[in-house]
Amino acid sequence: MSPYLLLDPAFDGLVPSSTLHINETVNRFWREGKTVHHMGFGESRFDVHPKLQRALADNADKKSYLPAKGLPDLTSEVAAYYSKKLDRSFNSNQVIIGPGSKAIIYGLQMVLNAHVFLPTPSWVSYGPQATILGRSFSYIPSDHDDNYSLDIGELDKLVRACDNPCKLLIINSPNNPTGQVMDAETLRELAEYCREHKIWVLSDEIYFEVCYANSKHKSISTYYPEGTFVLGGLSKHLSIGGWRLGVGLMPDTEQGVTIMQKLAVLASETWSGVSAPVQYAAIKAYEMDEEIEQYVADCREIHRMRTQFFRDALLNMGIKCTKSEGGFYITPNFDSFSQGLERVGIKNSRDLADHLLHQYSIASLPGIDFGIPEKTHSLRLSTSYLDIETEFDSGRLLSLYQAGVDVKTFMSKQHHPNVHGALDGFQQFVDTIR
Ligand SMILES: Cc1ncc(COP(=O)(O)O)c(C=O)c1O
Repeated sequence: MSPYLLLDPAFDGLVPSSTLHINETVNRFWREGKTVHHMGFGESRFDVHPKLQRALADNADKKSYLPAKGLPDLTSEVAAYYSKKLDRSFNSNQVIIGPGSKAIIYGLQMVLNAHVFLPTPSWVSYGPQATILGRSFSYIPSDHDDNYSLDIGELDKLVRACDNPCKLLIINSPNNPTGQVMDAETLRELAEYCREHKIWVLSDEIYFEVCYANSKHKSISTYYPEGTFVLGGLSKHLSIGGWRLGVGLMPDTEQGVTIMQKLAVLASETWSGVSAPVQYAAIKAYEMDEEIEQYVADCREIHRMRTQFFRDALLNMGIKCTKSEGGFYITPNFDSFSQGLERVGIKNSRDLADHLLHQYSIASLPGIDFGIPEKTHSLRLSTSYLDIETEFDSGRLLSLYQAGVDVKTFMSKQHHPNVHGALDGFQQFVDTIR
């Protein structure tokens, strides 16, 4: 390497986000004409709601820079939306708008010089973000058979061993990769623990509108408002990840104001504000327009049917799976097939994901990418792409659902050929390793 090229060693060993990487790989395979069942990427694929399309077109003439923290009309709409949805009371000063919630999560990790605690498993980007920033982080051990529930006792062991006075716990409910939802009691207990030990909580609630658990979505900020940052955005429930608009809500305290000031500095010195037409259009997305709310409810129900159908089918094959109560994810575990896996040369979760891609045309992500120990034969499967590969498919499935067909017909091979194709692949695989 040239002596005048000095790279930050923080990037050593880091590769582009595995979710984006698998998406690019699958798209390349598709361009080459290969069949691949794409379960590697979690992107809700429904059409942009017509009212949002119109709002964006109507604001195409907005050309000026906006306040780095976000358009005031939008931050007040976001505050009203979260106040109603989370049954809390936010004001617009607590809100920052960023180019996706990912950027705000990164910003918070940058502003707080904290040790980061991550549940096992956790979304792929929290850990690498901490690494890029030179922050230390640890995974809180958990157990597949316990649905990867967060164990406060395990967290406590790590907290006691940590000498950084500033501590940040990142939780994500509904969860990517498990689909798990944290219930009110767990959140209350965790809030008490974090308050007692002065631990900040970054509560990534980007999937809260895609929660189909029996009980309504609960935010830890209800029980710990002074120590919680709530994160969200438009990417999941409105299927507009490409618009790149995320939101962060800071605590309404002196410390919250200080943190917000630092985030505003970061925003003004880096991204300068989210695209103006997108921010103006996003006001419509947060207005709680009845038609858009109904569309979100329909998409949520479709995600639920597809994800639970897939999970039930895997369970019937004898594959252990986490409980899916939100989002579009399933985390299966193949450890009970360890002898069969060894027979076909699969030693860890990376081998497992590779084998499924190359032998059965199923794209998935290995559990290791989410912090699950590599020797555990686990995957993250996303149902969001199957049979919604094209714009045409998303309109077709939404119309079919809205026409009121029953679940059996909706999930039939006729309407979901790729769901059934992927399941056939899993069945053949399981038959070889049984
Ligand atoms: C758990 C979780 N958090 C945050 C994000 C980032 O979303 P965005 O940056 O589009 O707001 C994602 C996207 O995949 C996610 O799955």
